[in-house]
Amino acid sequence: MEISQELIDAINDQINFELYSGYIYLSMATWFEEKNLPGMAHWMEVQADEEYSHAIRFYRHIVERGGRVTMKGIDAPKTEWASPLEVFQDAYNHELTVTERIYKIGAIADKLGDRSTQSMLQWFYNEQTEEEKNTMEIRDMLKMIKDSIPALLQVDAKLGARPAAPAPPLESTAP
Ligand code: FEO
Repeated sequence: MEISQELIDAINDQINFELYSGYIYLSMATWFEEKNLPGMAHWMEVQADEEYSHAIRFYRHIVERGGRVTMKGIDAPKTEWASPLEVFQDAYNHELTVTERIYKIGAIADKLGDRSTQSMLQWFYNEQTEEEKNTMEIRDMLKMIKDSIPALLQVDAKLGARPAAPAPPLESTAP
């Protein structure tokens, strides 16, 4: 079936939001660099990369369905945080917002009976569960260690071991 303009517009907005998400995480990465926490900076850089790959997945879906994507301006993200805990609390809150937005696209696809978009979104539902879990776990670890510098450095080393983000698929619906 032909993809509706309503769905194209909603997915196009999400492409913009995923790029904005990447911008947010890169802003967090550079904050961590400045604080001499290279592991957390690395984690955020990988996260930014993942967000760009999410944008590409959505982009590919529109293109493969014969639609046109419009690149829009990206808002400037926050640049200062009071603590690593505040950064990861923001990251967790941001992922909750992303999930909500993707569910809204799902509701439009349901309303229109667009099964192709529903199938594409399934990957994102699982991904969001993972992203919420990851940011929540790190937020909770940072809450637990309070002001302990040795424990903070341990968490930093752990986050520094995060593997690089996988490249986005050439087709949006690939597993
Ligand atoms: Fe693309 Fe972190 O959601």
